[in-house]
Amino acid sequence: MSFFTDANLGRARDIVAQYPRPKSAILPLAHLAQDQHGWLPPEAIEQIAELTGVTAADALGTCSFYTMLKRRPCGKLLVSVCTNVTCLVTGGPEVLEYLEEHYAADPDITIEEVECLAACGGAPALQDLLGGHVPASVNPISETLSFAKSGSLRILAVTGPERSPFLPEVPTMREQGFDVVVVGWLGGFVPVRTAPDIVRALGAAIGTAVEAPDMAAALAKFGNVPSFQGPEEFAATVKADLARWGPVVKASGFVAVD
Ligand code: FES
Repeated sequence: MSFFTDANLGRARDIVAQYPRPKSAILPLAHLAQDQHGWLPPEAIEQIAELTGVTAADALGTCSFYTMLKRRPCGKLLVSVCTNVTCLVTGGPEVLEYLEEHYAADPDITIEEVECLAACGGAPALQDLLGGHVPASVNPISETLSFAKSGSLRILAVTGPERSPFLPEVPTMREQGFDVVVVGWLGGFVPVRTAPDIVRALGAAIGTAVEAPDMAAALAKFGNVPSFQGPEEFAATVKADLARWGPVVKASGFVAVD
């Protein structure tokens, strides 16, 4: 017996035919099944597997990776609450508890706890900001520059110790009276027992690359400023950041799990 209705089975076959490899159609078929049924029961997974020539376990593996594909019935309103690190320190668990207490018994509302929804940074956070769903966001300059230039958003402050050469008109947080200085960095790490001369040689090679004009020009396109630290200076930066942010993470109650 087919899970898909006759009409949707025809659609499903058309979808599969669009792909050079049938298994590439797993996700579109999962969306089709969810549109039909509201969620993905085992029969849907089995038929998707059959149509795409994979095992049911493979189809389930793909479908279970994406939180927007549901494997249990949902109410008309689905509320996903993230309790991962960023949201944990900003009250995600409390929001979840409140919603569960007030709405868990309502069949029209499904409350679910999810891992990072990717709304805490990067492109998804910007989408929410540009769409007017959140009033403000903290993002690297590289992500926001083009939107600021086009007038889609307004940058209120930069968190560095001084103004960015790419946003000379934007004051720092400190200039505006907030004693906040946060600088994002990328670093190279090696195993702890690596010989000191190898560490020095690697550090020197990275320094040469970072300070090369070509590298500076490439980084500038994304609003990044190269600034090299050697092994000792960088180790001090990491130590200082651990001392600064460690208590914040501890105070949040976050506990690392394997
Ligand atoms: S940690 Fe919650 S959305 Fe990313």
